[in-house]
Amino acid sequence: METFDPGLGRAYHSFAAGDADDVDAAVDAALRAGRDWGKTRPAARGSILARAAALIRAEAPRLAVIESLDSGKPLAEAEGDVAGAARTFEYYAAAANTLQGDSFPLGHDYLGYSIIEPAGVTAHIIPWNYPLSTAARGIAPALAAGCTVIAKPAEQTPMTALLLAELLHRAGLPAGVCNVVTGTGMEAGAPLVRHPAVRHVSFTGSVQTGVNVMQDAAPSVTRVLLELGGKSPVIILADADIDAAVEGIVGAIFENAGQICSAGSRLVIDRKIHGEVVSRLVERAQSLTIGHGLRRPQFGPLNSVEQLSRVAAHVEGARTRGLSLLTGGRPIVDPQTGKGWFFEPTIIDAAPADDPVVQQEIFGPVLVVQPFDTDEEALALANGTEYGLVAGVYTRDFSAAHRLARDIDAGQVFINEYFAGGIEVPFGGNKRSGFGREKGLAALEAYSRVKSVAARIGG
Ligand code: NAI
Ligand code: MG
Repeated sequence: METFDPGLGRAYHSFAAGDADDVDAAVDAALRAGRDWGKTRPAARGSILARAAALIRAEAPRLAVIESLDSGKPLAEAEGDVAGAARTFEYYAAAANTLQGDSFPLGHDYLGYSIIEPAGVTAHIIPWNYPLSTAARGIAPALAAGCTVIAKPAEQTPMTALLLAELLHRAGLPAGVCNVVTGTGMEAGAPLVRHPAVRHVSFTGSVQTGVNVMQDAAPSVTRVLLELGGKSPVIILADADIDAAVEGIVGAIFENAGQICSAGSRLVIDRKIHGEVVSRLVERAQSLTIGHGLRRPQFGPLNSVEQLSRVAAHVEGARTRGLSLLTGGRPIVDPQTGKGWFFEPTIIDAAPADDPVVQQEIFGPVLVVQPFDTDEEALALANGTEYGLVAGVYTRDFSAAHRLARDIDAGQVFINEYFAGGIEVPFGGNKRSGFGREKGLAALEAYSRVKSVAARIGG
């Protein structure tokens, strides 16, 4: 198969189109390697992960260029993703030997305790928007917990998962513990999810494919962790630090050209400051430098021609329904080459709460503005979609911030800095955004099983 450079809109490299036979071979390898890997002392597993982190840092320039080329994202963002992947391996290297069980108070004549076991062979279905970060986020805790791994990167962006596996091998990970099968969702992803020896599937991607994955995993009663998109609100109260809020929103919706599951795609803003904030956002949107990712622009292309047409269709719908487009709204090309799959940074004002651009994930650089008059209305708007991944809140009022954090239906709330946090903070969604938590110590639990032992030992 071919993988494309979205900044030029042309194929630049080929890779293997894996199928069910490759999946079978990978699962066999994982089963064989898992017998020893699961018994390895957690601290020893941690040492290998620490060496992998160091190798990721050593290879960072190469990884970042390849990630930028394969996905289209600006090089500076790819560098951030690579640093984040190294940090993920460091975190789980240190956490590997913190997994510990309990003892249970059954009384004098009994002994009760738990054993934490690896979940077994784990599958990781990875999307194209954060190829290396998402791979690292699943693979590092799975390995730390003693699981074996089969990763299926997205067909649009297979390269860095392959490089990561190579680095893990160099770090001393035994053969067969981490496998990568490239290919399409249908040919490689579905057989992997359906394979009866796979005991856990981590899936990040669209809701529809997540539902398919859940159904495909059901016959083998394989557990799934689903991280599916969002329509995340950024609430700005009237007393907020406007500079910080504007900066936060620009990153929340224009980073990676808005192709972020946790993008802040809805601006829920107090009508008293709506005019000022929106005009500053329009100015920022129009001044972003646009170009091929490797030229270090502030704003890069969309990942594929399919994604470009999906985003364009969403915006066309808004235009047809008479919504107010404050800026952007059209596909464009790299001004220097006349090529690539770009879409203008776009802001749609005063969208009704039931409009499709408010309700549906666009997964592109399209900010939808929803003004409110009262705090109750802000909360209702924030919670008014089927998604519940993350939310942002900007205010100087401590109590108001934490009331909103309490009442918003989302897996994670950022206060006064969108995307605040790191690998330490559990991440995942509510409602149609999915279930299960990645990152943090929660991820180690996701890749483990608890065995309880209760013994009568006599008096
Ligand atoms: P997708 O959800 O179909 O693809 C994600 C991954 O799943 C890829 O690796 C793909 O090969 C794999 N896959 C597809 N069908 C599969 C199946 N039946 N069994 C196992 N694996 C399968 O998403 P797609 O088509 O790339 O994008 C469609 C929309 O999904 C986007 O427009 C965007 O709205 C959303 N999306 C959300 C992401 C997120 O981070 N939440 C990431 C990527 C896409
Ligand atoms: Mg590509």
